[in-house]
Amino acid sequence: MIVVTGATGNVGRALVERLVDANRPVRALTRDPRRAGLPAPAEAVRFDPDRPAALFEGATRLFLYVQALGGRTGALLEAARAAGVQHVVLLSSGIIEEGADDARASHPIHVMHATAERQIRDSGLAWTFLRPNAFAVNALHWAPQIRAGHRVRGVFPDGLGAPIHEDDIAAVAERTLVEDGHEGAVHRLTGPEAISNAGQVEEIGRALGRALEFVETPPDQAGPELFPSLPPHMLQPLLKAFAATVGVTPEITDTVQKITGDPARTFARWAEDHADDFRN
Ligand SMILES: NC(=O)c1ccc[n+]([C@@H]2O[C@H](COP(=O)([O-])OP(=O)(O)OC[C@H]3O[C@@H](n4cnc5c(N)ncnc54)[C@H](OP(=O)(O)O)[C@@H]3O)[C@@H](O)[C@H]2O)c1
Repeated sequence: MIVVTGATGNVGRALVERLVDANRPVRALTRDPRRAGLPAPAEAVRFDPDRPAALFEGATRLFLYVQALGGRTGALLEAARAAGVQHVVLLSSGIIEEGADDARASHPIHVMHATAERQIRDSGLAWTFLRPNAFAVNALHWAPQIRAGHRVRGVFPDGLGAPIHEDDIAAVAERTLVEDGHEGAVHRLTGPEAISNAGQVEEIGRALGRALEFVETPPDQAGPELFPSLPPHMLQPLLKAFAATVGVTPEITDTVQKITGDPARTFARWAEDHADDFRN
């Protein structure tokens, strides 16, 4: 049995679908199983951090999405180990790099994932850390504007990234959960090619069959309305992270291909897969 936390999320849902397709027994944790819409025969189970033993009964492997644990990572790892879980695969973040400077290491996303990695290393469980850089699905923050018209206000049109398709992360997660040989491995994951923010908007327009215009907004005029799903306190750290992508070639790894056998999907492919998310 494989337990998946964050099972209705971008990566978690894709992972549950893959495990179900491969006939693997999977328990999908969610705060609301009735609304989860997860595929049968996955067991959709309410995530109740006060009764952790029941969550891991009969399980040997765990996919961990750290925000879903609400600060109780240590207790949940202990419960998982006591129930017989042997291996945990953490959805961590590419922000974690060995030798990161103090500014980077104090970034809230870095602190959150570094803390989880440390707790897992200390837990006695075998582990694999997935450290993806930016998700392609972040482009959904432009969706309200794209549904409303052809002008898309955004920051740093020339900022570069190598965004990764969430299903490529799920494909790597699946392999690391079901194959031997990933214990103690850190997998850095990216998309296959560099693309600018303006280039991403152009690709979304191409997938929709519409011309979209990227309208540059200076970062000091960028408000939360440009990032509808972002917690407001994350706006400044995010803008700082975006600023650092201008004129810098992004990291590109071939880890997705090495582990899954298939090349990582391009942003253009992601835009085709998600075209309906940008339509009314
Ligand atoms: N976006 C990026 O560019 C990026 C890059 C590197 C790493 N990451 C990391 O990847 C993870 C996000 O993965 P994702 O996009 O697949 O997740 P997601 O879609 O944002 O959320 C996953 C699921 O977790 C549950 N959840 C969300 N917030 C929660 C909370 N505060 N408490 C309890 N449950 C909560 C929700 O499910 P239910 O409502 O069903 O419970 C949600 O569907 C984060 O750890 C992030 O730091 C992201």
